[in-house]
Amino acid sequence: MSVTVKPLVAGNWKMNGLLADLEEFGRMSAGISSALSQSVDTMICAPATLIGAMAGKAAGGSMAIGGQDCHPDASGAHTGDVSAEMLRDAGATAVIVGHSERRTDHGEGDDKVAAKAMAAWRAGLLAIICVGETEKERKAGNALSVVERQLNGSVPDGATAANTVVAYEPVWAIGTGLTPTAGDVEEVHKAMRANLSARFGGEGEAMRLLYGGSVKPANAAELMAVTDVNGALVGGASLKSDDFIGILKAYA
Ligand code: 13P
Repeated sequence: MSVTVKPLVAGNWKMNGLLADLEEFGRMSAGISSALSQSVDTMICAPATLIGAMAGKAAGGSMAIGGQDCHPDASGAHTGDVSAEMLRDAGATAVIVGHSERRTDHGEGDDKVAAKAMAAWRAGLLAIICVGETEKERKAGNALSVVERQLNGSVPDGATAANTVVAYEPVWAIGTGLTPTAGDVEEVHKAMRANLSARFGGEGEAMRLLYGGSVKPANAAELMAVTDVNGALVGGASLKSDDFIGILKAYA
């Protein structure tokens, strides 16, 4: 059974954005009508260097600001890392954990991702936990088992619809222009819903499940209409206000 939840479209700016790009962010925020903000929650997950300034600019508007990663600890001798508490202090209300680029570039496994999700909760942040199979895993017919394993390992006990969002991002669809068919997305999202509902009951039923990977204005309406897809995690198309607003229009 699916429950009606307010969708979330979150942009992930990845390692992009300088102070000069706050103007583009301003155009994005200004482009979200109050009607649109009532039908969809919106967020930009900014590089750590921009969170403070972006949160300042977003104040009073409908756009939330998130981080892209956090260290499991609140503070300490971890040169170059940023804690969930620091993100919160800078104005973030959410943080992405377990993005495939972190899993690959920094060798982060499910245990580490779960520890980061708990750090997010400790700091009062929404944890956006990413899962998704590689092309090799899909071709071998293992997409569902990989996603299930990542969910079991990366989503900690205590997850609720209020503190956690899960993003399904097939690795082969990220930045490639390729997307799974609506049927393939539905199959994975249904399996994720069943897994989370079995584990977390009503909280799992109401948890938002985002699709991510080459979401664009041209394919957003079709992908967002899939059962158990409650929004999107958007990379490249979140850098330009016209594209991001174009995606949001799937919910107009
Ligand atoms: P693209 O939308 O650029 O494919 O990136 C998706 C992504 O990784 C969002 O986290």
